[in-house]
Amino acid sequence: MPPAAPPLLTARLAAVAERVPAGRPMADIGTDHGRLPAFLVLSGRVPRAIGVDDKEAPLAGARALGDTLGLGAALEYRRGSGCAGLAGVDTVTVCGMGGALVARIVAGARAAGATTLVLQPNEGEADLRAALGPLGWRIVTERVLTDRGRRFIVMSATYGSPEELDAVDLAYGPARAHVDPAALAARLAADDARLRALVARHGPNPALTIQLDIVAEARARLTRSAR
Ligand SMILES: C[S@@+](CC[C@H](N)C(=O)[O-])C[C@H]1O[C@@H](n2cnc3c(N)ncnc32)[C@H](O)[C@@H]1O
Repeated sequence: MPPAAPPLLTARLAAVAERVPAGRPMADIGTDHGRLPAFLVLSGRVPRAIGVDDKEAPLAGARALGDTLGLGAALEYRRGSGCAGLAGVDTVTVCGMGGALVARIVAGARAAGATTLVLQPNEGEADLRAALGPLGWRIVTERVLTDRGRRFIVMSATYGSPEELDAVDLAYGPARAHVDPAALAARLAADDARLRALVARHGPNPALTIQLDIVAEARARLTRSAR
């Protein structure tokens, strides 16, 4: 028997896929290899998906994947920058980029028709959270996960009822939104230990004290939200 084909998605993109609302058209911006939209159409989760990338080389690979899977018009790969030129997509996903770039891309998502965002910033997640409220988005879920030894964050947001986030929520996401509180608790414990080790090595300083206070308050909010 030939070896089984590797799964289309790693744990990181699988965590994104599970937050995409079923039955609604979606667009994946910065799609690169194009696996996320391909998986969503192949699995029947969405009726139509568009993978967008601003470079031709990754799109060639994505189109080859689409041709292999034979998903027809339900799966389309397009060259474009951000959400420019998109219309009628209910969900926009943006994954594997820095938070500042993700924030610039989602600034165009509402005009494309989106009511749901699913975002996986590689870094700069606090900046991304800070950008969502002023654009009219409210964070509804957050998940901390580990994929091949690396920690990732996946957050989803819906349009309307934005809320103001303080320094604790910006750093770790609102406690109420976390779908895996144990994973956030483990991350907070690791951050606490890392910061305490820095204090032990270099002595206390105001910046470390502020960060330790943020971690302590995030832990307290997580405990309260579990009640
Ligand atoms: C690091 S890859 C991430 C690929 C995939 N989303 C993932 O998470 O595995 C980033 C991709 O985004 C594309 N990209 C960067 N800025 C973009 C923009 N403004 N609009 C569309 N695509 C962009 C790049 O060409 C690249 O293929």
